[in-house]
Amino acid sequence: MTTTTGPTKVTGAVGAAHTRVDGRAKVTGTARYAGEIPFADLAHGWLVTSTIARGRVTSVEAEAVLAMPGVLTVLHHGNAPRVDVDYQGLLGSPDPVVGVFQHDRVPFAGWPVALVVAETSEQAREAAESLVVHYDQEPHDIAFSAAHPGSYTPEADGMRTEKGDLAAQLAASTHVVDAQYTTPEEHHSPMEPHAATARWDGGRLDVVDSNQGSSWVADELSKIFSLDPGSVRVRSEHVGGAFGSKGLRVHQVLAAMAATVLDRPVRVVLTRRQMFSLVGYRSPTTQRVRLGAEPDGRLRALDHQGLSLSSTIHEFIEPSAGFGRPMYDADAHHTHTRVVRLDVPTPTWMRAPGEAPGSFALECALDELAEKCGVDPIALRLRNEPEVGPVSGLPFSSRNLSGCFEEGARRFGWAERDPRPRVRREGRWLIGTGMAAATFPVLVGPATAGVTAEADGTFTVRIAAADVGTGARTALTLIAADALEVAPERIRVRVADSDFGFAMIAGGSMGTRSWGWAVTAAARELRDKLVPGVDIPAEGITAKADTGALLGTLAQKERHSYGAQFAEVAVDVASGEVRVRRMLGIFAAGRIINPLTARSQLTGGMIWGLSMALHEEAVRDQATGAPVGPDLAGYHVAAHADVPHIEADWVDDPDPDDPVGIKGIGEIGIVGAAAAIANAVWHATGVRHRNLPIRPDRVI
Ligand code: MOS
Repeated sequence: MTTTTGPTKVTGAVGAAHTRVDGRAKVTGTARYAGEIPFADLAHGWLVTSTIARGRVTSVEAEAVLAMPGVLTVLHHGNAPRVDVDYQGLLGSPDPVVGVFQHDRVPFAGWPVALVVAETSEQAREAAESLVVHYDQEPHDIAFSAAHPGSYTPEADGMRTEKGDLAAQLAASTHVVDAQYTTPEEHHSPMEPHAATARWDGGRLDVVDSNQGSSWVADELSKIFSLDPGSVRVRSEHVGGAFGSKGLRVHQVLAAMAATVLDRPVRVVLTRRQMFSLVGYRSPTTQRVRLGAEPDGRLRALDHQGLSLSSTIHEFIEPSAGFGRPMYDADAHHTHTRVVRLDVPTPTWMRAPGEAPGSFALECALDELAEKCGVDPIALRLRNEPEVGPVSGLPFSSRNLSGCFEEGARRFGWAERDPRPRVRREGRWLIGTGMAAATFPVLVGPATAGVTAEADGTFTVRIAAADVGTGARTALTLIAADALEVAPERIRVRVADSDFGFAMIAGGSMGTRSWGWAVTAAARELRDKLVPGVDIPAEGITAKADTGALLGTLAQKERHSYGAQFAEVAVDVASGEVRVRRMLGIFAAGRIINPLTARSQLTGGMIWGLSMALHEEAVRDQATGAPVGPDLAGYHVAAHADVPHIEADWVDDPDPDDPVGIKGIGEIGIVGAAAAIANAVWHATGVRHRNLPIRPDRVI
């Protein structure tokens, strides 16, 4: 494969709005999701989880429920097949929670203790709710705070970066901000719950799932069950949201385990409540930011310290302190990440891990500094624009943050803003505006793709991409159309089958870039084969590409997307309610493949930022260690009525290395959005809110 360098010829598919190729199937209900695909002889598993947060399971009274109607088996630590969680997967070692029923220890509330399998889902549920489990309970510690004595600096790379003499630069600064910010535990809880059906089919484990990477999940399942890699097939045709939560989770392991024990297909669907304990979440954070500046706002010192939590069984790091590393120049630039281990489930990647909470703290602190310096917040950021990576010293692959500020300020009407707080009032509403900057890394991973020229003149693309609801299938259709120089209507894209070979996951905002690169390479190979006069046989002509080797040659650079977020809020002086009146996000995030779905992706992130600013907050009961109200009634998320006028747009910013110019837009929409709203609340009221969410009782 030598033909992937240089930009693709633009034939007009990429960049033009295109409705989803699977849109009709989805709105008419013919698109089937993992929990609704029919199987003959299907059995259903219902999971039972621990009611204690720490201790041991002493007994499971399985006999009583085995006599209930339809019950086939009860799996628990006393009888379950052995699995192996001591392996390295694509993203490191697994959270040991996926090694279900391997011992009697309970490390958090909601831990899997038994699976009841029955002929119907209702029978399994009835029996599961009747199952008596006895525990030996131990005291638990779930209290997250900056003062927790157990916090430590993880061994992982980049946990501590130090450039320059922080104390000296702070001492020499005219203006100093030193503030602590907190964000609560937050959950992704996608609309479609985690669901998997597993069966043995001709010596292969066949799993129908809902995930962010079928080849990834297949690889992890083969490792956990010590199977030959080729003997596991995972498919995940349609996915109703994921956001970081849909990797290998307990449901696939439970279904595969039960299918093995019973030798028939078994389906396991997690309940909404179980999702609050078993599919990861965003750790709460406490962050301290110190900024020191010259009178004109030039930064002498930037120090960002972030603390997050993890479980006692696995270390997950929410790297909030790293957000500012590619953002702002400062003579002294320090970041420090710490973690504390508590008796709670392991957190995980949740849309813009690190950047989402990190941008709230640093972009609010910059607003506080702008106020102290008497400098406009946009001017303050422009004054600290770096030439090269502020900590790394590496060149930027491209950087158009200033273009985002310029376009955003013009469209938002920033120039007319009176910088003084609490000066605009409409009846009982105080009005304010705020802004913040955003960034997210530009990553890419290897992928294999096949493109087939069919005898009927159409083309079939095969790649184990995941369309988690973003429109990835449609984006890949447009990319293939340009690379093949044919109309999108002649192309069908098949995704999410691990038998198509390895493909990078839909995560880290690198799905479309990673898959698009491989699809472009395969399509170009195919075009080279389709010389005039060539006959296409009945099985078609196929070209394949694997980008693995090529990506290793990319030069070391600071590669990022950027954005500018703007918000206008109204704050009710009587109730403390904050209403967002309008939001505008302008992004420099590479070439945009499909404006229709890209806009949706970006506004989706911004709405989540609004939700993070004003609503989302998971609460744990200190007595039981379990989440309080773990469902979409108890856990508040933004609703339509909370999302008024919202616009996302972009400035030109093609990536210089990617054959299509893609950077990635999956996560940057949420970054900075909560800070823009918090800064607008300050502008409206004159009061800084450093703890999310900005609830009415905190405003009043
Ligand atoms: Mo995303 S949090 O990288 O799935």
